Amino acid sequence: MSNSRALRGQILHFLDDPAMHGEAAWQSLDDGILWIENGYIRTVGDAAGLLAQLPADLPLQHFPHHLIIPGFIDTHIHYPQTEMIAAYGKQLLSWLQTYTFPTEMQFGDPEYASQIARIFLKELLRNGTTTALVFATVHPESVDAFFNEAQALGLRMIAGKVMMDRNAPPELCDTAASSLSQSRDLIRRWHGVDRLQYAVTPRFAPTSSEQQLLSAGALLKEFDDLYLHTHLSENRDEMAWVATLFPEAKNYLDVYDRAGLLSRRSVFAHGIHLSAGECQRLGESGAAVAHCPTSNLFLGSGLINLEQLRAHGVHIGLGTDVGGGTSFSMLKTMDEAYKIQQLRGATLEPFQALYHATLGGARALDLEGTVGNFLPGNEADCIVLDLHATPLLQFRSQYCPTLKERLFMLNTLGDDRVIECSYAMGCCVHHRDGETR
Ligand code: GUN
Ligand code: ZN
Repeated sequence: MSNSRALRGQILHFLDDPAMHGEAAWQSLDDGILWIENGYIRTVGDAAGLLAQLPADLPLQHFPHHLIIPGFIDTHIHYPQTEMIAAYGKQLLSWLQTYTFPTEMQFGDPEYASQIARIFLKELLRNGTTTALVFATVHPESVDAFFNEAQALGLRMIAGKVMMDRNAPPELCDTAASSLSQSRDLIRRWHGVDRLQYAVTPRFAPTSSEQQLLSAGALLKEFDDLYLHTHLSENRDEMAWVATLFPEAKNYLDVYDRAGLLSRRSVFAHGIHLSAGECQRLGESGAAVAHCPTSNLFLGSGLINLEQLRAHGVHIGLGTDVGGGTSFSMLKTMDEAYKIQQLRGATLEPFQALYHATLGGARALDLEGTVGNFLPGNEADCIVLDLHATPLLQFRSQYCPTLKERLFMLNTLGDDRVIECSYAMGCCVHHRDGETR
């Protein structure tokens, strides 16, 4: 498989946050070339200037009614929950008991875990997601299975073993000591191997003792550049429970803060019901919130205040949160994110939404300069979106003279059918019509 190639078509990527820099935040080329060399971005520019410079033997693909953008970055998702996506009728705490915990019990079986990891990764790539921050289960086997499959595809992925030592079925509980030693083994085996990185993953405050949270903090000190991945302030009943379990904490975030879990590489899923003080602390620590709109609506969790997070400089990524979320598609995720802001009387502008799904996600994961845009030297993870993927899209496109209108149409009407191909390090890892090149 060649990892040097040139892609020609309309190209769009972000250099900065549109909320701060307006139109200067993105580069858009109506007829552009993305030149990929040995898996990395060599350059991006107008076809008129670049075509003559391409080596004669470089494969060149032309996408005439498409948009070429960086691969989507999903900043919060659970691979073991693939098989229980769309489970009816519950809110968070009873949903966990009824559907999630029984499903996750199967992942001590390495064969089963590998099978689901393969289905999961295929689904990500079908939807144009090339990097994700992923929950496994409490079983170390579930992490090995996931990383093995991601490694075989050459993907940049971050994942970790769930740490959970109370308030869950005994079959799914570890202890503070076993979670420390099992996580440590996995970190040694996987962190920094190829494109894989490790996230210390306490499930959420209610399922970890204080001692286990302190163990998570100890791991972050022991190893460089680890991620911390957990849930925060998703549901009102969850928050009330946390207040009774940790009466000494000032607020929900403080439970994690006291254990040393806040840093530039900490990612908190949801963060819907945060106080100004919590937002400030998130901002000053450099941490990120993964906003998961399809999940927040499906589980009836609430409507996030994005302006408040932005005002405190909190990094914001988008997450699907499958299986609490109802789609692997980051386009559908942007669609629901917009509707959540509509319900609040606010908005999410289409360039802003795409920023959060690409460079914003990379920043949330501290991966700027590696993935998320097309600056030279970045890893060449990119996707090709087909604006004529369905009869309705093709019809509606005629009435979208501006890029902003086309983008909004894509993020409102688009789904997996729009993703014509996905590339990881310049290699085609998904083609809608079956073949990879
Ligand atoms: N909080 C604790 N565990 C979970 C989970 O699996 N999904 C979601 N959405 N929230 C959680
Ligand atoms: Zn989640």
